[in-house]
Amino acid sequence: RKKLTIRDIMKMKNNKKIVAITSYDYPTAKIADEAGVDIILIGDSLGMVILGYPSTLQVGMSEMLIHTKAVCNANPKALVVSDMPFMSYEYSKEKAILNSSKFLRLGADAIKLEGGSEYKEVIKNIVNSGIPVMGHIGLTPQKYKQIGGYRLIGKNYQEAKDLLDDAIQLEDSGIFSLVIEYTAYEVAKRITEKISIPTICIGSGPYCDGQIMVINDILGMGDYSPEFAKRYVDLKSIIRNAISNYKSEVENGKFPEKYWGMKDEDKKKFENS
Ligand code: KIV
Ligand code: NA
Repeated sequence: RKKLTIRDIMKMKNNKKIVAITSYDYPTAKIADEAGVDIILIGDSLGMVILGYPSTLQVGMSEMLIHTKAVCNANPKALVVSDMPFMSYEYSKEKAILNSSKFLRLGADAIKLEGGSEYKEVIKNIVNSGIPVMGHIGLTPQKYKQIGGYRLIGKNYQEAKDLLDDAIQLEDSGIFSLVIEYTAYEVAKRITEKISIPTICIGSGPYCDGQIMVINDILGMGDYSPEFAKRYVDLKSIIRNAISNYKSEVENGKFPEKYWGMKDEDKKKFENS
């Protein structure tokens, strides 16, 4: 298949459901791409699911850049999007442009940042620099302390209305697509009908232009997953079984079965040395 561009993704609205998944390294990016996903996101969720940090607040540019490089080394045909980590875009427009440019230099196709209409100017500046931006509203994990935890957003009229207004403002700022995380489904549905760019949802119901999931959640790699995640395989048990089989085989001498020896004459010489 051919390399996907933001135009291809935008054209999927009303045509085909957009399939997005996170990846953080070379082998899983390759597998996700072989499976034919449309978008690979190097999410700052990597802080929690890969690096063992307590939240995404601990993730900085250095981690995001290393993992972006690893994913880009797989040369995905999928659109590659990198998350802007906490405090990489909030406090200065120069910093926001500079940091987002680093991802494109490594091979990413776009960046994603969390936030509503308060980031309109920041987004406009990045987009005007030639860097495609994906928005992210609803539950924005970088603001979990302010939000009051990882809770469902938009259950009441005011929150729902604010989300709709944010979506409209963000579209106006030039984003090419919008992630809507863990909102009441009616909110995601209304936004999807109202804006002309694709919505990509996680935990916000089926009435969106696409879905995104954290790869570790669908593979069953973690001890904890959010309620909206679906496990398609219990990879954790599969991996544990493989490692414990290896352990018993080493302990009982069954492994290794294959090994290689010296040339006969040299072997004799060596045995007498
Ligand atoms: O960091 C991440 O994985 C994300 C997705 C859940 C949208 O932002
Ligand atoms: Na994220």
